[in-house]
Amino acid sequence: MTNQSAIIPDWNAGLYDDKHAFVFKYGEDLLQWLNPQPGEQILDVGCGTGYLAHLMAEAGAEVWGIDSAASMIEKAEKEYPGIRFSVADITAFSSDVAFDAVFSNAVLHWIQDKEAAVRQIYRVLKPGGRLVLEMGGKGNVKSIVNALRLSLAAYGYQENASAAVWYFPSLGEYTTLLESVGFRIRNAAHFDRETELKDADEGIADWICMFGQQFFDGIPPEQVQVICREVQETLRSTRFRNGKWYADYKRLRVIAVKENQSWN
Ligand code: BEZ
Repeated sequence: MTNQSAIIPDWNAGLYDDKHAFVFKYGEDLLQWLNPQPGEQILDVGCGTGYLAHLMAEAGAEVWGIDSAASMIEKAEKEYPGIRFSVADITAFSSDVAFDAVFSNAVLHWIQDKEAAVRQIYRVLKPGGRLVLEMGGKGNVKSIVNALRLSLAAYGYQENASAAVWYFPSLGEYTTLLESVGFRIRNAAHFDRETELKDADEGIADWICMFGQQFFDGIPPEQVQVICREVQETLRSTRFRNGKWYADYKRLRVIAVKENQSWN
């Protein structure tokens, strides 16, 4: 297993839990799609600080949470000492456990080598096992990303402006990828989720600081602050309502099954 920090930045686990808790709060709804059963072996890919893994364990499942960010795993291990956690990259992950289910919430859009990710997930599942995922879908946070790219370009950071940071596929593209490694798609949806950001003053600027670090490679921190604030102001007329900031999330949700025998 290797660390994937070159692809996904290490996180500020405290800031994540404090201001971006909506990530795992919405994940609770995805848990209903997973419907974890007592005794099931479940792999949580991109478990963050372990909250959802802990809910699966409470339902009686045997959970293994992996995340490429060491700071997240450190916090998860402290909070939930009875659960197995590892710093690991799903694209290079192999396991002595065969899983009944793989679960992933708001992580797969960070992984550029998407083929390797779905191949490894398929490999570690038992025949009959299921993959339950949510990620950013096509058009996700488009207004924020467009405004950020425009601002970076205006300051002369052309390379940063065209950085490929996230992968937000359409439903057709991602389900085709899953089918190409052998999955059967049981359920899939691509839907809008206007997401309220916690900080009423700095909602968009905070979000960019937390998640958009890779756009700012080589840019001095003072300049980053200026750009984040400027992007926020550009978005005020469309993304700020009744005293609250909203991000234009578009979610992709899929349940896919590794059939017992070849089905196609
Ligand atoms: C998302 O969950 O859609 C997301 C989170 C952080 C950065 C980009 C997208």
